[in-house]
Amino acid sequence: MLLHLSTWAEIEDHLKRSKTVVIPIGSNEQHGPTGLLGTDWLCPEIIAHEAQRKAPDLLVAPTFNIGMAQHHLDFPGTIALRPSTFMLAIGDWCRSLAHHGFEKLYFLNGHGGNVATIEAAFSELYAEASYAGKNRGFACRLKNWWELKGVMAIANRQFPTGHGSHATPSEIAVTQWAYPDSIKAANYAPQVAPTGPIREAMDFRARYADGRMGSDPAQATPEKGGELVAAAAAALIEEVAEFGAETAPA
Ligand code: NI
Repeated sequence: MLLHLSTWAEIEDHLKRSKTVVIPIGSNEQHGPTGLLGTDWLCPEIIAHEAQRKAPDLLVAPTFNIGMAQHHLDFPGTIALRPSTFMLAIGDWCRSLAHHGFEKLYFLNGHGGNVATIEAAFSELYAEASYAGKNRGFACRLKNWWELKGVMAIANRQFPTGHGSHATPSEIAVTQWAYPDSIKAANYAPQVAPTGPIREAMDFRARYADGRMGSDPAQATPEKGGELVAAAAAALIEEVAEFGAETAPA
């Protein structure tokens, strides 16, 4: 079930069966000379929607597609929220869903740069309840799609070298599988990009001229992406069911 293709009455009904919702979350940012700007929100969305096709009653919310990407801002097309804005927005997404009665909010993330801010947003939400001396009434979980069970083992086998940390062949393969008409090609120089720290946008572009970090995306193929998506979707279904079944202490 996709929330944005449902009516309010269908969601009201769904809440009688399940109080769990999956929220793909990512970032719209440069991904090197061949990676789509949407890569980091497309990957969790592709995996969550594939999981939903396999398990039709899994409810997937609209994708939260803008994240903490200030360091990519010197590459055109990047759209970023500063951490403080991002935290406020995540808080209101959670409060909105909790207002309807959702109790398990599962964020499937596609951008490593989001992790610290999402976790801080969860802590703010829990802190509101702690200071008020109340139960929060809902729980949040964050999972990076590449950390779903079995996914990293496949990526390590597919890409023993040149996986890197940004514009990786695994994430680009996932988008190639879902959007074969948008596959791009380029001559990479060097073939494997450099690695180093992440600071402000001007520093980032000076260090990483074409936007990649440590990666050789030329190894990506749609077939490899399909294998990653299948494993990730299966693991997501399992993990969301386990999270949904978790009971609060009496
Ligand atoms: Ni990425």
